[in-house]
Amino acid sequence: MELSDRLKSLPPYHFAAYRRKLGELRAAGVDIIDLSMGDPDLPTPPEVVERLRVTAGEAVNQHYPEFGGMPALRTAFAAWFERRFGVALDHERELLPLLGSKEGVAHLPLAVLNPGDVALIPDPYYPAYPTAVALAGGTSRMLPVDAAHGWLPDLGAVPAEALKGARMLWLNYPNNPTGAAASHEFFEEAVRFARAHGLLLVHDMAYAEVTFDGYRPPSILEVDGAREVAIEFHSLSKAYNMAGFRVGMAVGNAGIVEGLARLKSNIDTGIFRPIQYAAITAIGLPESWLDERNAIYQGRRDRVLAACGRLGLAAESPRAGLYIWPRIPAGRTSAEFALELLDRAGLAVTPGTNFGAGGEGYLRISLTVPDARLDEALARLETVVAARA
Ligand SMILES: Cc1ncc(COP(=O)(O)O)c(C=O)c1O
Repeated sequence: MELSDRLKSLPPYHFAAYRRKLGELRAAGVDIIDLSMGDPDLPTPPEVVERLRVTAGEAVNQHYPEFGGMPALRTAFAAWFERRFGVALDHERELLPLLGSKEGVAHLPLAVLNPGDVALIPDPYYPAYPTAVALAGGTSRMLPVDAAHGWLPDLGAVPAEALKGARMLWLNYPNNPTGAAASHEFFEEAVRFARAHGLLLVHDMAYAEVTFDGYRPPSILEVDGAREVAIEFHSLSKAYNMAGFRVGMAVGNAGIVEGLARLKSNIDTGIFRPIQYAAITAIGLPESWLDERNAIYQGRRDRVLAACGRLGLAAESPRAGLYIWPRIPAGRTSAEFALELLDRAGLAVTPGTNFGAGGEGYLRISLTVPDARLDEALARLETVVAARA
């Protein structure tokens, strides 16, 4: 049976194939250290797991859940958003619980784009964006970004020809893979730009709560008038070590939120209620829980940065996120170097080009293993780099 042209035209999802390869190597006895995915290794808070366990045993929660999330979750999310960002949302019209933020990212273009519409995407990017655009029949137009400009798109320099047919602009700060942060002023500029060109701003904030040195990333909805042109994705996966739970939300423009909800009501039937209860418990945890967890990642960040410094691999210190984004040694591509690390040292990292052509010359290293394992990984990295020097 033939698969659709649409499906056949998609690039393979890198991590699906890569995980298979890692599985094969492990089965052959190779001791792989996996710094490739952004899957938190730290445990879900025990009170969150307990809430899931208890509520899963209650018969009322074993039925189909509400399409748009339980009112209790929607009001808890809205209260969290107001506490965290100082922005009051209408929990019925401006907020929608999701089965993880990737689900919302993947479905949004189907609700917004017509075939042939253009989406502007800063490159490097989270690979789900262009895939989602392609599934909706849209075309992605990449906006190159680089370290010299803080990995932010220069909105004043977007060529008029790129704006022809453009309907949306994707943003993601704190950024995966670069670790870059965006300021309130940048978001003001983005809102003005979206208004001027009739674009929907899509801001992915999956790393809002994984932050270092006391940094508090702003929401785009803090900008006056942003809710007229923007939608923002949030996720509990990285925020509360809940990647397996699959829960997040979309907030922002009421019409877009309603459209996404309408689309989803034809596709999924909501989030298992016990997961929603677990989410309510998670977002009610004290700030100190986040501080303690983030201190662990910050220690790992500093270990990796110190090693990169010793090896002459230039890397900026990220203020947020789960990744270090160093330059690779000269003389090979990102893909070649990543393969070399895997073959010669059993070290799994992600080549920068997995995030678009703009990632050439870089590597993404995840901070998702404990210190001792991370030190072993860095020693292996050192061996490979030294052998090539
Ligand atoms: C930038 C970005 N957005 C969204 C996601 C998806 O997160 P989830 O679907 O687990 O909420 C990820 C996961 O790695 C990500 O890096």
